[in-house]
Amino acid sequence: MKKGMLASVVMIAVFMAACGGGSKNDKATEGAKSETPAAADNSMVAPGAGAPASKGETLEASLDCKTCHKVDMKVVGPSFKEIANKYPATDENIDMLASKIISGGSGHWGTTPMTPHPDLAKDDAKEIVKYILAQK
Ligand code: HEC
Repeated sequence: MKKGMLASVVMIAVFMAACGGGSKNDKATEGAKSETPAAADNSMVAPGAGAPASKGETLEASLDCKTCHKVDMKVVGPSFKEIANKYPATDENIDMLASKIISGGSGHWGTTPMTPHPDLAKDDAKEIVKYILAQK
């Protein structure tokens, strides 16, 4: 209940800020004050909270991709932004990258290989690629 309230207060604040309105700031602050200052639980207010996640994003989040990839920072593998900038979202690229996620491999970014993901369905892999290629 409290978490839910906090999340909606934050969402309202974000929404207001996004719309350029400042008049409701008092209300948001009031709401925040009534919450215990205890360790802010940010789990409900991840960046982009409120925006419905695409299927590809949800799939990606449920897999091991994040151990090696972040949206805007190179980890073991290239960042999703780098990938999006390298490949235009054409059918051939989406198909090629989906196969690469399933079979793994190296050579396009260096010698570090990506682990294969044989249990991933091709269509799901394509959804993930579409999500990645949208991260420009
Ligand atoms: C063990 C670390 C690791 C994991 C886990 C991993 N990747 Fe990768 N990924 C890499 C590396 C390293 C590369 C660069 C491969 C190359 O040089 O061709 C890469 C490359 C890619 C590319 C670009 C491929 C190309 O040919 O340019 C995509 C797209 C990608 N990964 C998506 C994913 C997705 C989606 C997942 C989760 C299902 C995932 N990766 C999991 C390490 C990883």
